[in-house]
Amino acid sequence: STCRLGAPNETRLVAPGCRNPKYFPNARRRVILAVVEVGRSSELDDLRGRYEIDEVSVLPEAWFLTPGLVDVHTHASQYPNIGIGLDLPLLEWLDRYTFPLEAKYLDLDFASTAYNTCVKRTLGNGTTTACYFGTIHTESSKELFRACQRAGQRAFVGKVSMDRNSPEYYVEDTQSGIREARDFLRWTEDQKDPLVKGIVTPRFAVTSTEASLEALGEMARTFHAPVQTHISENKSEVEVVRRMYPDASSYADVYKRAGLFDSKCILAHGIYLDDDEIELVKERKAGIAHCPRSNSQLTSGMCDVRRLLRKGVPVGLGTDMSGGSASSILDAMRQAWEISKLLSLQAGESEALTLDDCFALATIGGARVAGLEDQIGSIEKGKAFDALVLSPDPGVDFWDAGSPDQLVHKVLMLGDDRNIKAVFVAGRLVAGPGIP
Ligand code: GUN
Ligand code: FE
Repeated sequence: STCRLGAPNETRLVAPGCRNPKYFPNARRRVILAVVEVGRSSELDDLRGRYEIDEVSVLPEAWFLTPGLVDVHTHASQYPNIGIGLDLPLLEWLDRYTFPLEAKYLDLDFASTAYNTCVKRTLGNGTTTACYFGTIHTESSKELFRACQRAGQRAFVGKVSMDRNSPEYYVEDTQSGIREARDFLRWTEDQKDPLVKGIVTPRFAVTSTEASLEALGEMARTFHAPVQTHISENKSEVEVVRRMYPDASSYADVYKRAGLFDSKCILAHGIYLDDDEIELVKERKAGIAHCPRSNSQLTSGMCDVRRLLRKGVPVGLGTDMSGGSASSILDAMRQAWEISKLLSLQAGESEALTLDDCFALATIGGARVAGLEDQIGSIEKGKAFDALVLSPDPGVDFWDAGSPDQLVHKVLMLGDDRNIKAVFVAGRLVAGPGIP
């Protein structure tokens, strides 16, 4: 039998069944193929007729294929702080732990080591696409770009812009900050990399002037670049923004007025958005990066993803390192599930997301938020072959006790990087030991 995971009414992941040997393309070209159960060679011939197949691999028993994981919000620069500093809420945490670390990226050697380590780790964890925040430093942000290129990860890389309400040792002058942002974006465009792209990255409304936000909005339009920022993560932050922008009707309106919603916009958190803001986000085709581990660990709150999805807003998952202390989107998926259950408990309803819903957020949901749904997020003909091969070995016991779906669920719930045997980006094996 063939087990399927994905959003309701969508066959997004075809996880081939687990008992029988299965075929799948070990793509050297950009070969895309729906993986189906193939028991007889005549079926394989039929497949060859319908798809371009270079090579066929037989997966060992109980191994299966999924789309690659998409991390739509993470701070590569904060990776050295992962696992520490989670004793303060957002604004205090930024001052005490995060800004001092990010300031160190003036040093290119420090940046290079940290970024290469981060990219290797996230790839090993199955993140085939990442939306990264760097720091305010242009040269070290180029190091992050190169680290992604070197390792073969698909990524958006942002040089952070911040020109107020920041410590004097880590802040930009408004005009030179705008210039640096433009130089960085131009440089990323000049690289003409098919997988790694630049992204306009104002940190958030608190640390930007309106002049800077407006210039960045215009820049995104000029370069046809996407935008990423934070929104409505923490109640104190929301209050600060309300006082800073008395003419804006809401937090989302601050970004809208600056023209940031004229481009594809990835908004991290969005916990406290009101109905009008959600409507605006939807209308402007922006998406939410749901970062459940960070939301819990910085005591920010619980984001009601069901509500966002019901209103038609695209949602993907973010690790938000190091506000979140995990570099794995499988972890984010599990945490998203738990938070959804707690919210449904609190509301006295039974409308929690399912594990399949959460896995869809981790894959096709992230692809939509990143504006890449025509390229990645599912394994289908016409998309790039960004995929993982997973196995219950080691550590996932009794995998043969239930159905093939239950095997898949077990590995998704219990597995870690050791269970990720192969990570493919655009058909290239970029992490994991590979298929024997
Ligand atoms: N808001 C502004 N900057 C940050 C950051 O670095 N991490 C998180 N979680 N929220 C932010
Ligand atoms: Fe963040």
